Amino acid sequence: MTAVHRPDDFALRDGGEVAFTVAAQAIKFGAGCLSELGEDARALGMRRVALFMDRAVAATEPASVARQALAAAGLDVAEFDAVRIEPTDATFLDAATFARDGDFDGFVSLGGGSTIDTAKAANLFATYPDDFLAYVNAPIGRARPVPGPVRPHIACPTTSGTGSETTGVTVFDLVDAQVKTGISSKHLKPTMAVVDPTTTHSLPAGVVAATGFDVFTHAIESYTARTYTSRPRPPSPDQRPPYQGANPYSDIGSMQAIRLAGRYLVRAVADSADHEARHALMFAATLAGLAFGNAGVHIPHAMSYAVAGLNHTYRARGYEAAEPMVPHGISVVVNAPAAFRFTAEAAPGRHLEVAAALGAETAGAADADAGDILADRLAAMMRETGIPSGLAEIGYGEADIPALVAGTMAQQRLLVIAPRAVGEQDLADLFGAAMRYW
Ligand SMILES: NC(=O)c1ccc[n+]([C@@H]2O[C@H](COP(=O)([O-])OP(=O)(O)OC[C@H]3O[C@@H](n4cnc5c(N)ncnc54)[C@H](O)[C@@H]3O)[C@@H](O)[C@H]2O)c1
Ligand SMILES: [Fe+2]
Repeated sequence: MTAVHRPDDFALRDGGEVAFTVAAQAIKFGAGCLSELGEDARALGMRRVALFMDRAVAATEPASVARQALAAAGLDVAEFDAVRIEPTDATFLDAATFARDGDFDGFVSLGGGSTIDTAKAANLFATYPDDFLAYVNAPIGRARPVPGPVRPHIACPTTSGTGSETTGVTVFDLVDAQVKTGISSKHLKPTMAVVDPTTTHSLPAGVVAATGFDVFTHAIESYTARTYTSRPRPPSPDQRPPYQGANPYSDIGSMQAIRLAGRYLVRAVADSADHEARHALMFAATLAGLAFGNAGVHIPHAMSYAVAGLNHTYRARGYEAAEPMVPHGISVVVNAPAAFRFTAEAAPGRHLEVAAALGAETAGAADADAGDILADRLAAMMRETGIPSGLAEIGYGEADIPALVAGTMAQQRLLVIAPRAVGEQDLADLFGAAMRYW
């Protein structure tokens, strides 16, 4: 297989970007490390802590470990356990009220992306109150920059998926507008990630599958994103976007996450007692988070925000206790085979490397086959792990395509990172191709 670092991809161009940045992230990773949470919180100066969880996680063993660790460190803790799975604007507002009224000096989130994102938003609105759409990404919100640092936040993921513990992004469903969107700022990055892979032992198989494909798409989209040197150099360094495009740093995490998830996802779904597989997947999730938080994600994620925002009737395997909705990983991966078939012509070598890392046969493959080889391999893995066969299976038909395209066009922040320009007709074709893969 070709080496990860492909210097030719990053050749400098006239007027093009010359630098990429890496914001260092404090991460603790290891089986059992959640028991050190109290000391970690105290070391960050926390005394009165808001602990965020969803109700299912609040009843698990890791929640008991976290409570005991915080109590043993002498911290005063108040719990918010009303996190909604795939949070909405209303969830964020409830959480912000809780955070403001509680006068906390620190935040701890224990859960999946839904919980970590809710804590990020609560921390922001408690620290710098403003009306709800002020900080939300344009064009849906006003994209007001977060004024400065928020309070310390320790994020403890319990799903092997979003990587939210490493990113400055918080995502929610803006219910009236029928679209998902988010707030993005370096200040929203958790102060520290405490990643204990034993927390994933109780994850239902359906959640491992859905969140595992979130990992894949983060990593593959980052690896196939346009390169940072293909962007124009910004007039001043503070205008460098958070999503910089593929670069030699993000490539390392993306490719290793693809290899790990490729090797372990099917095993982790099939057997909850396969701790080797589940722990490896947890590390892949964090690595992919570091990569996409730095490089960016593109077409499959942009499409997912419309797919998830328009459908509130679907119930996925493993999510029976949550309100009906399309889980994030599913809403992304159903677009992925179609999207990578489309993007491959812009960077066939990278698409082939990804396919090879997923175990596809690529020896002697022509550039023109790269998209099909990767798409077919991904679809085979989706099928093997019980993912829906396409948009039709989650309730969409041809008549929904115009609304899906409109919701996706609002995600320009992501679409500009795609390796190929993508317009309305392209997206309509991609949604059509994503209806059914097998
Ligand atoms: N901020 C980011 O950078 C970012 C990136 C990708 C996705 N997201 C967002 O994150 C959200 C999805 O998060 P997620 O996929 O991690 O899952 P989640 O937080 O929505 O949880 C999924 C399900 O797993 C259950 N669960 C979680 N941990 C468990 C455990 N240890 N044992 C048993 N059950 C457990 C939950 O109760 C829930 O039913 C979406 O809103 C998505 O848009 C954010
Ligand atoms: Fe994602």
